[in-house]
This record gives sequence, C-alpha cells and structure tokens, in this order.
Amino acid sequence: MPDSAPGLFVAFEGGEGAGKSTQVRLLSKALKSGGRDVVTTHEPGDTPVGKRLREILLGHETGALDPRTESLLYAADRAEHVASVVRPALDRGAVCITDRYIDSSIAYQGAGRTLDPADIARISEWASGGLWPDLTIVLDIDPAVGLTRFSAPADRLEAEPLAFHQRVREHFLALSRQNPHRYLVVDATDSVDAVSATLLAAVESRLS
Ligand code: TYD
Repeated sequence: MPDSAPGLFVAFEGGEGAGKSTQVRLLSKALKSGGRDVVTTHEPGDTPVGKRLREILLGHETGALDPRTESLLYAADRAEHVASVVRPALDRGAVCITDRYIDSSIAYQGAGRTLDPADIARISEWASGGLWPDLTIVLDIDPAVGLTRFSAPADRLEAEPLAFHQRVREHFLALSRQNPHRYLVVDATDSVDAVSATLLAAVESRLS
C-alpha cells in the first residue's frame, strides 16, 4: 500500500552495538537545529502497552518463547506504535525517526529464529497498516565486534549465539540489496562524526 503521509519516515536498523541510539540522537539534534519538526521513537516499547510488551520480549524472566508468539508480540507493539506515535507525527508533517522497525522483525524473527521472512513481512505489513519507511538506514557491523560493545547485561535477544546475529546481519544486508533506493547502508565502525554527517546529508536530500 503506498504511503501518502506528508512527513518523512526514517528507520534505523542494524545489529547489536552498531551505535543506532547515538546516531538517532545526533540526526534528530541536527535536523531540529535546522528548524525541522522531529519525533524520535523506538521499538519495542515506545507506548504504554509497548512498555509492557517490551518487558515480556526482552526480560530473561520470560524464558523461551515460541518464535511465532515472539513475532506476534513485536507486531502488536508495532501496531500500537504506528497508530499512536508514528502516524500522528507523519500526518502533521514531522520527520519521524524510529530506532528499529519492520526490518528488525524480518531479520531477527525471520532469519534469526528461522521463520519464513515473507510471513514476518506480511504480519508486520498488516500490523503497521502498510506503512513502510521512506528511508531505512542500516548501521552495519560485524556481530563479533558489535556484541562486545555494550556494558549492560545482555537481554533475551542479545544473548543469542553469534550465528544467530550473523544471520540477522546478512538479512539486513540482503533486504538493502533488494530495494537499494530506499536503503542506506553505513559502516558502523567509521567515526561517529563521519557516520552522522553521511546520515544527515542523506536525510536532507530527501527533505529538499
Ligand atoms: P533495544 O535494547 O531496544 O535496542 P537495541 O538492541 O536496538 O539497542 O533491543 C531491542 C531488541 O529487540 C534487539 O535485540 C532487537 C530485538 N527486536 C526483534 O527481535 N524484533 C523486532 O521486531 C524488534 C523491533 C526488535
């Protein structure tokens, strides 16, 4: 379904430890200082119901979840997120920047958990009402490096083995190759400043 919202929808994707939250913050700051209306958000958990879903999805006390259950909970979080945060922002013409979106489900629950990525895409498409990003930024990093980059204890997904994270990475890259005009893949090991300059230029070119 084509999207006709007046704003610009940007999704950040990538594996663990790629520095997405830093880059989301820098991009938002730069766009705001240029006078733009910017909404930053994330999945899972940026709505009241989403926060409760996030605890289930990422908390170790949940234990093992059937991959289909996990997929549907991420989709439920997404439905609520799009309806109450993303759509309203885009409808008023804002730049909406989300830290993770549909491709995370396709890569983690599809390639990672080895469900059919096409099924996951279809569920997410329904959950989001067919809202796809105008631009998806993939911050690409070798998981052998990314998984060493954070200090907090690993959550349920981070604690998966390296091979899981390698499948996730490969799938993000495969998605970007399928639709190159809607993706920007950036090497997350470049300097923070270099990455943020590249991203700002890419977003501004879509706003002008
Ligand atoms: P989080 O701590 O929010 O952020 P990040 O890892 O991006 O710094 O973790 C979210 C986790 O949820 C992450 O391991 C990826 C995973 N995830 C999925 O498996 N499927 C999804 O659809 C989404 C949105 C996230």
